Amino acid sequence: MKRARIVGTGMAVPEKVLTNADLEKIVDTTDEWIVSRTGIRERRIASEHEALSDFALPAAQRALEMAGIPGDEVDLVICATVSPDTPFPATSTQIQAAIGAAGAAAFDISAACTGFIYGLGIANQYLRAGGAKTALVVGGEILSKFTDWTDRNTCVLFGDGAGAVVLRADGESESGILGVSLHSDGHLGHLLQRPAGGSRRPPSLRDLEADQSFIKMRGNETFKVAVRSLAEVSDEVLKAAGLAHEEVDWFIPHQANLRIIEAVGRRLEIREGHTYVNIERYGNTSAASVPIALDELNRAGRIEEGDIVLCAAFGSGLVWGAGLFRW
Ligand code: COA
Repeated sequence: MKRARIVGTGMAVPEKVLTNADLEKIVDTTDEWIVSRTGIRERRIASEHEALSDFALPAAQRALEMAGIPGDEVDLVICATVSPDTPFPATSTQIQAAIGAAGAAAFDISAACTGFIYGLGIANQYLRAGGAKTALVVGGEILSKFTDWTDRNTCVLFGDGAGAVVLRADGESESGILGVSLHSDGHLGHLLQRPAGGSRRPPSLRDLEADQSFIKMRGNETFKVAVRSLAEVSDEVLKAAGLAHEEVDWFIPHQANLRIIEAVGRRLEIREGHTYVNIERYGNTSAASVPIALDELNRAGRIEEGDIVLCAAFGSGLVWGAGLFRW
C-alpha cells in the first residue's frame, strides 16, 4: 500500500508580539508566574483586521513552495481550526481557491488543539486508499479573538498562527507516515470550551456581556488529563509501529505548557535534547502548534532523512492523538 509522505512544511505568524510584561499591564499577573507555570515568554497576536486565512494561506504557500508542487496538483485541502474566518464557508475553501487547487475536496475540521493530528490522520487515510494524491493539511488558529482579556487564567496562554504540510502518496518510499492514533472523551468537554456562539446559544448580547462567548478553561484538571493522554497515545502509536521510545529522534508535542511537555517527555523516556520546544515564543497556538514546530525544525535542517518523528497533541473535546513518521 502507498505511504503518505510529508514533502513540504510552512508556517506564518502575526508580526505583533505580546510579551509577559505587556500582559502585566492588562491583568493581575507577573512574568515570573507565567514563565514558571507555563514556560511562555511571549506570543504573537493578530491585528484587528487579520483573520485565520491571512496566516493559513502563506503557511500553505510556503509548504507548497518547499515541496516544489504547484497548487493545481493539490486534490485535498484540510484546514484544522476552531477559529475560522467565518463559521461558514469553510476557511479551507478560501485556501483552495487562493492556491488554485481547482476542484479539490476542501473542508475544515474541528478538533481544537489536536486538529492538525486529526487532519494528518484523515489525509493519511485518503492518500493510502488512493482517494487523493496530494494533500495540504493546515492547522491554524486566531484564538486571541475569542479570549477574555480580563481573565488571567486563560489570556496569558494562547497565541495566534498557522502551520501547514503538503503530503504526497508514495508507493516507493520507506519514509512517510507510520501511524496515526486518534481518541476522544466527550464527557470531559466542560474542561475547555467556548460556551456560546453555536446553535445551542447563538450569538447574543446577553452572552457577550456575560463573557460566555470566550474561552473557558479548568486549567488544573485539563493539565492532569493532558499528561496522561499524551503519554498513552504516544506509547500506543509507537507500539503499533513496533518502535521503542528510545528510537524517537524528534518528539514534537503540542505546546500548551512546558510542565506538561516535560512531564510527558519523562514518562516516555524521550532522550535528552530530542523534544522540540518553542512555547516560550508562541504560547499555545492550538491546532497550529505542532505544524509550526515541525516547520521550524525542518527549515533549520535539524531533521535528517530516516529520522523517527513523533507528534502528539490534546485539546478541547477532549480529543487527543499522535502521529508517527519516518522522515
Ligand atoms: N497570573 C497569576 N496568577 C494566576 C494566573 C496568572 N496569569 N492564572 C491563574 N493564577 C492563579 C489562580 O487564580 C490561582 O490562585 P488561587 O490559588 O489564589 O485561586 C493560582 O494561580 C493557581 O492556579 P492553578 O489553576 O492551580 O495553577 P496551575 O499551576 O494549574 O497553572 C495553568 C495554571 C493554566 C497554567 C495550568 O493549569 C495549565 O497549563 N493547564 C493546562 C492548560 C492547557 O493545556 N490548556 C490547553 C489545552 S489545549
